[in-house]
Amino acid sequence: MKIVVIGGTGLIGSKIVKKLGAEGHQVVAASPDSGVNTLTCEGLGEVLKDASVVVDVSNSPSWEDAAVLKFFETSTRNLLTYEASAGVGHHVALSVVGTDQLSGSGYFRGKIAQEKLIRESSIPYSIVHATQFFEFLKGLADVSLAGGKVHLPPVLFQPMAADDVASGVARVAVGPPANGIVEIAGPEQFRVDDLVRQRLASLKDSREVITDPNARYDGAAVGERTLLPGKDARLGETRFADWLKSPASQPPKAKASAAGATATKGTGGHGT
Ligand SMILES: NC(=O)c1ccc[n+]([C@@H]2O[C@H](COP(=O)([O-])OP(=O)(O)OC[C@H]3O[C@@H](n4cnc5c(N)ncnc54)[C@H](OP(=O)(O)O)[C@@H]3O)[C@@H](O)[C@H]2O)c1
Repeated sequence: MKIVVIGGTGLIGSKIVKKLGAEGHQVVAASPDSGVNTLTCEGLGEVLKDASVVVDVSNSPSWEDAAVLKFFETSTRNLLTYEASAGVGHHVALSVVGTDQLSGSGYFRGKIAQEKLIRESSIPYSIVHATQFFEFLKGLADVSLAGGKVHLPPVLFQPMAADDVASGVARVAVGPPANGIVEIAGPEQFRVDDLVRQRLASLKDSREVITDPNARYDGAAVGERTLLPGKDARLGETRFADWLKSPASQPPKAKASAAGATATKGTGGHGT
């Protein structure tokens, strides 16, 4: 079975490519670097030829509100149009638990638009809703900064390791289309403020985390249980304390940017 992974070079995409490849599937990792761009349509017709399944784990390079919305609307529309022409039988997309309740956030308005296009398309689909990745906790601190301090609400969430996210998405990709949402989550619940504090301490990041019941989650008002999955969620195995001791918890290597400053790939808001 030919499976095309859009965003196949990203944190989750690269792991999905490895896992599906190890199961013997013909997997193609597609991204702008490999000549496939869902915004410009470059390479789309070619890469989707004879594909049975498309897994979309791409992400917007910019997290500015309008840019995110434009990215998810344009890329999803293009992808679905080319998939229809190629006769793709299953479109799998990765989104976030609670997305529909997070419209106060520009990023989540982009994900809501992505999901709407998928539901309205003619292609059989599965939308995988994952909880926050452990790898994203520092990024969550970064988008929650005000006056040099991290402001977060003490609400519940059930985050998971990126490796378990990839396993969950890969499993859905080789199964029948759900034509709905499949939830995946971590094995333990935490309070958002508390876990981000633990993560920053593990990174020797001295930024203070302020527990603020009125703080927003990436711009969206959240209640005690907004970020929690439902009771049918498939749970990953990796516990936070074990992940912290594993190589996966090490920050990605910094690389020099064109401007001479130091940039770290994947340490921003909604990636890792
Ligand atoms: N962060 C969280 O806690 C969380 C939780 C649940 C779900 N999610 C979702 O998980 C998904 C994947 O996140 P991630 O952290 O794995 O992302 P990531 O590491 O930032 O990777 C993004 C991928 O998208 C590719 N891409 C960017 N622009 C593209 C374009 N125009 N055409 C084709 N590919 C393009 C990138 O290619 P290049 O490498 O060439 O730039 C890269 O392969 C996102 O949709 C996000 O909403 C995130």
